[in-house]
Amino acid sequence: MLDYPSAAVRAPLSAYEAERATLVEKAEPAPLVELAGIRKSYGSVEAVHPLDLTIRKGEFVAILGPSGCGKTTLLRMIGGFAQPSAGTIRIGGLDVTALPPERRPTNLVFQGYGLFPHMTVAQNIGYGLAIRKTPRAEKQRRVEEAMALVRLEGFGDRPIAKLSGGQAQRVALARALVMRPDVLLLDEPLGALDLKLRRAMQEELRRIHRETGGTFVFVTHDQAEAMDLATRICVMARGRVVQDGDPETIYSSPATMFVSTFIGEANLFAGQRCGGVVTLGAGPTIPDPGEDGPVVCVVRPERLWIDAGVEALSECAFRLAGVLESAVFLGPFVNYTVRLDGGESVTVSSREIGLRTRLNAGDRVAVGWSISDHRVLPHEAP
Ligand SMILES: Nc1ncnc2c1ncn2[C@@H]1O[C@H](COP(=O)(O)OP(=O)(O)O)[C@@H](O)[C@H]1O
Ligand SMILES: [Mg+2]
Repeated sequence: MLDYPSAAVRAPLSAYEAERATLVEKAEPAPLVELAGIRKSYGSVEAVHPLDLTIRKGEFVAILGPSGCGKTTLLRMIGGFAQPSAGTIRIGGLDVTALPPERRPTNLVFQGYGLFPHMTVAQNIGYGLAIRKTPRAEKQRRVEEAMALVRLEGFGDRPIAKLSGGQAQRVALARALVMRPDVLLLDEPLGALDLKLRRAMQEELRRIHRETGGTFVFVTHDQAEAMDLATRICVMARGRVVQDGDPETIYSSPATMFVSTFIGEANLFAGQRCGGVVTLGAGPTIPDPGEDGPVVCVVRPERLWIDAGVEALSECAFRLAGVLESAVFLGPFVNYTVRLDGGESVTVSSREIGLRTRLNAGDRVAVGWSISDHRVLPHEAP
C-alpha cells in the first residue's frame, strides 16, 4: 500500500510512453533499407554520386528521373547486381554490401523481364525456389499462390513464347513475389507495355502492394506513373537525388528548377535577385530573400489567372500583359497560351469555361498570380 501513490504517478506516465511509442512506430516504421555514402563510378563516369537514402517498411518508393541519371545503377546496387564504389548498404539492420543478390532479402524485376524462354510459366516462377531446394509440395503451393496474386491462374503450363507482353510482365512479377522478398525492386516494370495495359498494370501493382503489405522500390522515367503509384518519390538528376518527398510536396514545392519542369507543367519567369528583391525580366518585382544571382519564378498553369487586361486582375499581386495566341478547350478546363510583351510564352489552365467566349486569339490579355502561388528557385543551366 505504501508505494501506491508513486505507482499511481508512474502508471499514467508509462501508459503515455507506451502510446507514444506506438504512435511513433505508426508514423515511422523502422528503416528497412539504409544506404550510406553509396557511390558508383564506371571509369570516369560518375553514375551515382555519394548519396544517403533510407526506405521504410511498407513504402512504395519511385526512383524518378530522365534516362541515364543513374536509376538502374542505384536499384542494382540495392539488389546486389552492381558493387558500389564506396559506401554501405544495410537491409533490416544487416550490412549486405558484400553479399551477392541471392543472399539478400531483395528481388529484382528486370527491365525487359529476363524470363527463360524455353521454360513454362510455372517453371519460370518456381525457378528461385528450385535453386533453394524448396520441397516440391511447398514450391507448388507457393507458385500457385504467386500466379493467383498476379491473376495468372491456369497459365502454369503455358510456354513463355506464347504469352502476351502484359502476361510476360505478370510472370516476371510473380517470379519475384514468390520469393517473398522484404524489398521488391522493379526496374521500369511497365516500360514495354502500351498505354492501356500500363494503366491496368499500375492498378495491379497498387493492389499487390496493398495485399502483400510489402516494400516496393520502382524505377521509372515517367513522372505521371511515379505520381500515380508512389507514396514517396526520389527525383534523380545526373547521379544525384535532387528531391525526396511525397508526390504532393514535390509537385507544389519543387526543390529545383529541374524538378519543377520534370514533374508537371510549369511556367518559368526568368529574373534576377539582388539584395533580397527579385526583378522579373517581364516586369514585376518580388521581395524574396536569398543569394544574389539569376533565378526563375515558377508558377503552375492552374495557378495563373487570365483576363482581358491587368485592371481585371486587381486581386493578383503579380500581373503581366501579353497577347492571347490560342485557347484550347480540354473538357474540364481550357488551356490558354499567351505571348507576353517580354517575349516569353506562358500557359494558363482555367476551369472558368465562360472566359473562353470573351477571349479570342489575337486579343490583348493579362495573366496574374498571388504571392502564395509561386516559387523562386535558382536558375539552372540546361
Ligand atoms: N555497366 C556500365 N558500364 C559503363 N557505364 C555504365 C554502366 N551502367 C551504366 N553506365 C552509365 O551510368 C550512367 C547511369 O546509367 P543508368 O543507371 O543505367 O541510368 P538510368 O537507369 O537512369 O537510365 C549512364 O551514364 C550510363 O551510361
Ligand atoms: Mg535504367
